[in-house]
Amino acid sequence: MVKDPRRRQTSPPPSSALGASRPTGLMEAAPELAALRGRRVVLGVTGGIAAYKAVEICRRLVDAGAHVIPVLTEDALRFVGALTFSALASEPARTSLFTGSEGGEPIPHTRLGQTADLVVIAPATAKLLGKYAAGISDDLLTATLLATRAPVLVAPAMHSEMWEHAAVQENLATLRRRGVHVVEPASGRLAGGDLGEGRLAEPAVVVAAGADVLGRGGDLAGVRVLVTAGGTREAIDPVRFIGNRSSGKMGHAIADAAARRGAAVTLVTTTDRLAPPGADVVRVTTAEELHDAVLGRFAEQDVVVMAAAVADFRPKVSAPEKMKKRDGVPDLHLEPTPDVLAALGARKEHQILVGFAAETERVHEHAAATLTSKHVDLMVANDVSARDAGFEVDTNRATLLDSRGGIEEVPLLSKLALADVILDRIRIALTQTA
Ligand code: CTP
Repeated sequence: MVKDPRRRQTSPPPSSALGASRPTGLMEAAPELAALRGRRVVLGVTGGIAAYKAVEICRRLVDAGAHVIPVLTEDALRFVGALTFSALASEPARTSLFTGSEGGEPIPHTRLGQTADLVVIAPATAKLLGKYAAGISDDLLTATLLATRAPVLVAPAMHSEMWEHAAVQENLATLRRRGVHVVEPASGRLAGGDLGEGRLAEPAVVVAAGADVLGRGGDLAGVRVLVTAGGTREAIDPVRFIGNRSSGKMGHAIADAAARRGAAVTLVTTTDRLAPPGADVVRVTTAEELHDAVLGRFAEQDVVVMAAAVADFRPKVSAPEKMKKRDGVPDLHLEPTPDVLAALGARKEHQILVGFAAETERVHEHAAATLTSKHVDLMVANDVSARDAGFEVDTNRATLLDSRGGIEEVPLLSKLALADVILDRIRIALTQTA
């Protein structure tokens, strides 16, 4: 008997991210679907009439060479049978948080979430979008969604009235801001013979969108990217310093996204946040240390992203012992720190330079001035006085200004999603200078 590679395997192969992949599907996949080959895809199916189309999505993913693990909600089982998916997918369909596949796994959602390269939810009902946006995890699929760090693609399908409801649209906006990818529904015939928007996108469109999301995985392969993150601290005495409110979230998000997209990442950071696996990490504290770390590595970089908030001034002298109150109010004399970005701009050759402008007024004007004076290729400007942008929060609303005079307003996004937008622009700049 010839073994069908699409059939279940007794133990799932490791994620391609962990270094191995399964044999490809039976058919040679279309080149535009090549990114799916050997990747672990969790296919979530929720309870809508369009669930029958998920069968076709499952088959197409398998044909493209993906290792597909179907997860069906209880409501989905009212529309389609688990057996249909088990017969077509790479592993038996899973339906419960508490009973795994053969043999039973105690915590299937964490394992599924951790080992997935991509999670596709098709169809995604209004209920699923609401639970996902609210962080509710009351079944295997929603628990997997919270446990995974893989990209997630949702393909909503519902009646037009539900699709247009503010609650659904706001949930979707929340998910987009967190970096979730969305395949918009199409217009056409809906359940019960109605016509309108809300029909699940065609299976081929959903599968192509999945390949597109994964394809971004390697578009910066071979590019050397140095990112600075956090805020520098300038010592006044051994316990006090001049600092700023930068949390390092934006810089780390750029480093994470660049690593995910295949870049060789050097991360110069003032924080102890987790760095992406494989990154060369340099921990620094002061502007001087950051200057030396970046300048010393500049020649071997293709891109430098200066997301760190570097102190402009430091105490001329840092007291060797803790200053005492009884000695009176200290006289702090400040001096300028080296301007790292300006130094890079003055000596750049082939490198793409990206600067950040954290401003509280006349944001564009200041960013445009820095772009010119420091010879920067791309400035990311944001108003740090806004509640949902800038320091410490997880979202950012930015304006991108480039050296060719281009200005792009980016809507409120998660810092991770904004990181991808910035990297898209960097990739274009790299092809223009190549
Ligand atoms: N920067 C730097 N070295 C410094 C100060 C800032 O490399 N000593 C970098 C930041 O990382 C950021 C950009 O320069 O990418 C910000 O430049 P700019 O808009 O000119 O801000 P400031 O230098 O803070 O200038 P100002 O105080 O006049 O707003």
